[in-house]
Parts: sequence; structure tokens; C-alpha cells
Amino acid sequence: MPMSGRKDTPREQLPDSPLAGALSLPRAGSDFGAIDADEAWIAVIRKMDETYAELVRQQVELEAKNTALEEAQGFIAGLLGSMTDVLVACDLSGRVEQVNLAAERAFGLRADALLGRPLSDLLDPSSETTAADVLATVARRQRIADREFTLATPDGPLAIAVNGALRFDPRGRAVGIVLVGRPIGELRAAYGALAKAHEHLKRTQQQLVHAEKMASLGRLVAGVAHELNNPISFVYGNAHAMKRYAERLIAYLDQVHAGADAAALAKARGELRIDRALSDIPATLSGMLEGAERVRDIVADLRRFSSDRREAREVFDLAGVVRSAVDWVAKSQMPDLPITVAVPEGLEAVGHPGHIHQVMMNLVQNAVDAMEGRADRRLEITGARFETPDGLQVAVRVRDTGPGIHDALMDRIFDPFFTTKPVGKGTGLGLSICYRIAEEHEGRLEAANHPEGGAILSLVLPAAP
Ligand SMILES: Nc1ncnc2c1ncn2[C@@H]1O[C@H](COP(=O)(O)OP(=O)(O)OP(=O)(O)O)[C@@H](O)[C@H]1O
Ligand SMILES: [Mg+2]
Repeated sequence: MPMSGRKDTPREQLPDSPLAGALSLPRAGSDFGAIDADEAWIAVIRKMDETYAELVRQQVELEAKNTALEEAQGFIAGLLGSMTDVLVACDLSGRVEQVNLAAERAFGLRADALLGRPLSDLLDPSSETTAADVLATVARRQRIADREFTLATPDGPLAIAVNGALRFDPRGRAVGIVLVGRPIGELRAAYGALAKAHEHLKRTQQQLVHAEKMASLGRLVAGVAHELNNPISFVYGNAHAMKRYAERLIAYLDQVHAGADAAALAKARGELRIDRALSDIPATLSGMLEGAERVRDIVADLRRFSSDRREAREVFDLAGVVRSAVDWVAKSQMPDLPITVAVPEGLEAVGHPGHIHQVMMNLVQNAVDAMEGRADRRLEITGARFETPDGLQVAVRVRDTGPGIHDALMDRIFDPFFTTKPVGKGTGLGLSICYRIAEEHEGRLEAANHPEGGAILSLVLPAAP
């Protein structure tokens, strides 16, 4: 213990005696032998007083330090006690040195029953992370991050996610490892429920997408059937006429081959209206041919627009795409709808004509739906090419005379599954698919309202070079 007053100590003090400096006892034969003994004792007593006061001060200091230490210990104990995470501190060989209340609760044991035990004792045999893994990680001076441990507890195996790090002494030497873990049972259950809900949602979405596909396929088939109906009935009617002409011609030829005289032949020619048949045949045949060609074109369009050849990009004419979409959707569903199509031939874009055809069919379908049951119904489709800072572009605008799109809904109509149509009528996927197709073509799809009412949906694409 350091003593005060040493700085006055003369060189000749007794080196090992703490009081030697204070007493300054003269040695035999020194020059100070004559100092009065009373003064010496007063000095001794004063020195003893000082020493005592110093002892008391140090005692007070010690007690203050002790109180601070106890408070710090209490604070740490409170901290450990209030932790909901399980804390286990081990030495470098994996022996438990400290645990918190959450760990005592998890293991169903008091701290003294846990201290000193090897970490392996605390783990369930099924644990994904073993005590050996922990020690190996520690040996590599690595952290343990979010590893799954399974604790052996009285209630059975308990899975926890653990983080761990080395513990160092004040001199920076690694002395142990601190493991902090959180039970993941609840998290797991929540995650399981989330995964299940997600799976369910995905399935429902797939069903909806499938339903939308089936619905548009149904509409497509209805439209195409309607379109095919015209030329086929044309061909059918002409074929019937041809059959009748052929029957009359055969009857006439039969008389020719039978050697009928000129008067009989002239009579038969008049009765069988042979001249009329002969003059009608070329027109009837070309009508049949025309009908057959129309059927061939519709089938070709169907092939072209319904194929899903993603890789094949081609230059195509928007006029043909628009015409066929209008024919297949509007004409079959609203036969009396006045339609104007002003898309110039040769308005060319690059990409997948089938996909753009799908966009046009969706836009026309939406226009037709919007005008359902309204008095003034008109569908106007215009096409144009125009110069922009981004280069030459082509646009097709579909305008209807429906109620238009409410301003508040303008931003939402392109969202997947957004629909204002009754259940079973629309899935709300139409415009979101169109939007994606426009983007895939480096173009865009825009919605607006016409000042005189009705909606305008514009598809803008880069023009073919
Ligand atoms: N021409 C239009 N006039 C008025 N509202 C429209 C028009 N086109 C689209 N909308 C609005 O946008 C919504 C979304 O259209 P979208 O084509 O994405 O789905 P849908 O037509 O409702 O269903 P789906 O196309 O899947 O059968 C429609 O429900 C409608 O409210
Ligand atoms: Mg739609």
C-alpha cells in the first residue's frame, strides 16, 4: 500500500520499513543524535494519524468501487435476465461458463446445473449444428452467423437460430465463445403459413390466367367462326348453284348424245335455261374461288396470330392486324356497330404480329364491352406514322363512345387483375398483358379520354426501318 510523506524522506531511511521515512530515526553516531525525543514522538504520532487518515480514505474509495462493481454486476445480471434470447458463454473447449435466464428456462435447469457442462450435452442429437462444428468454427476464428441449433430441452428438441462470436480477455486473447440464439419455431410456423398462402395465391392466379386464356380463346373461336361463316356460306350457295347448272347441262348433253334433232335440242335448251347457266358459271366459280381464298386467308391469319414463336421477329403491316382483330371481335359480338378503320396499308412495325394482334383484340374487346347497352355506339380506329426525337414511330388509336375511364382509375387499369367488370366477365389481365407486350416491342400503351366522351387507347411502336 503506498504511503504518503515519502518525498521528504532523507537518503539514509530504512528501506524496508514503511514507518522509517516518517520516523527519520537517527543512526548511532550521526550528527542528529541530539534531537529531542519528544519531538520525535510527536512526529511519529502525526505520521500515524496521517497514515490512518489515508487508510480510511482508501477504505471509503474501496467501498465506493465495490458498490459500483455491485451495481454493474446487477445491471449485467438484469440485462441477461431480461434477454428473451438464449445466451450461453463457453470456454474454448466448449464448457459452459455462463448462461442467462432464458437459457435456464429453455433447458429447464438452474444455472449451476448447466455451468461446467460440455456444449454437446445441451444439444439434441438431431441438431444441424454440432458442438464439434462450433469448436471448429472457433478454431478458424470465424463468427457463427444464423446457424440452426437444436437444443435438448425437457419439452423436446427446440430449434433456435444462433449467432456466435469469440470472447476476448482484456489483453486481447481469445478465451471463449458467446452464443446467442432465438427460438425459430414460431418464425418457422409463420414462414410455413406465408409459404402456404403464397402457394395458394399462385394457384389462384394461375387459375385466373387460365380462365382468362380460355375466355379469350372462346372469344377468338367465336370471332373466327363468325368470320368463316360468311365465305363458307358463300361457297356453299355457289356450289349449290353449280350443282343445279351441272344437272341441267348433263340433261341437255344426254339429249345431244341420244341424237335428238335440232328442234328438240332448241326446245330443251330453252327449258333447261342452258344459256343462262353457261353465262352464270364463270361468276359462280370465281365467287366460290373468292370465298375459298377468304377462308384460306382467315386460317392463315389464325395460324400467324395465334402462334407463339417468341424468337421470330418480323416486319408486319398493322393494317392487316387491325382488320383481322376488328373482324374477329367486333363484327361477331356487335354486328350493327358502326366501325371506321383508317389505318393506311404499309404502316409497318417490327416484332411478333401475333402478340400485337392479341393487343388489338383486347383493345377492341374492351371498347365493345364499354359500349354494351349504350345508344350511341361507334368504334374508330386510326393509324399514323410520325417523327419523334426517338425516331420514326407508328401509332394505332382505338376510340370508342363508351363512358370513358374515370380519372381515379387511369393509373390502375394497367395493373394485373384490376377490373370493373362483374365476376366471370373480366379477369383484369387484358390491359396488363397488352402493356407488357407493348414494352417488349419497345413501345408503349397509353389511355386517355376523348373530350367528347369515350376512351382512347393508343398503341405506339417504333416504325419498321
Ligand atoms: N375502352 C374502355 N372504356 C372504359 N373502361 C375501360 C376501357 N378499357 C379498359 N377499361 C377499364 O380498365 C379495366 C381493366 O381492363 P382489362 O382489359 O385489363 O381487364 P378487363 O377487360 O376488365 O378483363 P379482361 O380483359 O381480363 O377480360 C376494365 O375493367 C375497365 O374498367
Ligand atoms: Mg379487357
